[in-house]
Amino acid sequence: MSGSVFYKMSQMETEYTVGDALFSKKEIDDRTRELAGQIVRDVRGEELLVVGILSGAVFFLTDLVRCLPRELDVKIDFMSVSSYGDATTSSGTVRILKDLGSDIAGRNVLVVEDIIDTGLTLSYLLKILKARHPKSLRTCVLLDKSARRETAVDVDYCGFNAPDVFVVGYGLDCGGRYRHLPDIHVVNL
Ligand code: PRP
Repeated sequence: MSGSVFYKMSQMETEYTVGDALFSKKEIDDRTRELAGQIVRDVRGEELLVVGILSGAVFFLTDLVRCLPRELDVKIDFMSVSSYGDATTSSGTVRILKDLGSDIAGRNVLVVEDIIDTGLTLSYLLKILKARHPKSLRTCVLLDKSARRETAVDVDYCGFNAPDVFVVGYGLDCGGRYRHLPDIHVVNL
């Protein structure tokens, strides 16, 4: 792979390299513009509260909202949830580490995630948010690893279907690293 940059983590139990880009920043940007267009059509000029789930979704959210027109009343907020750990032993319960700063009752809420895998995180979050009686509650996910789904979740806007491979970059991490890479890369284990 000429021109590729390789990263190595020798302190990890499994040594790995970050390989080729699976989705380039250009592909992400193009798809993000399309998703923003769909969102604008669906929200029909009403206020939109865009909720990002920390930390991975920050990159996607900030690019997505900048594709929304200035006429639209767009607000942003963030939530942070604890990881549920090993999905095979999980009950699907996640703990809220940082809650929203405002009430969502009667508002159009769009939850933005970088990736959906088992679906446990988003499914639990949606249950919590639904109970707060938003006017509408939609989901926008950049990557969907649908092959790994353990619970059904409605994804209203999906960037890309992703294969069942470990990915990093554009917010996605491995042990906290590589979130800053502009493209999304496959990790070669
Ligand atoms: C990732 C992602 C979702 C969750 C999806 O978060 O941002 O929140 O995993 O997985 P699931 O569908 O199997 O529940 P992570 O816990 O890695 O935290 P991060 O966003 O801070 O990287």
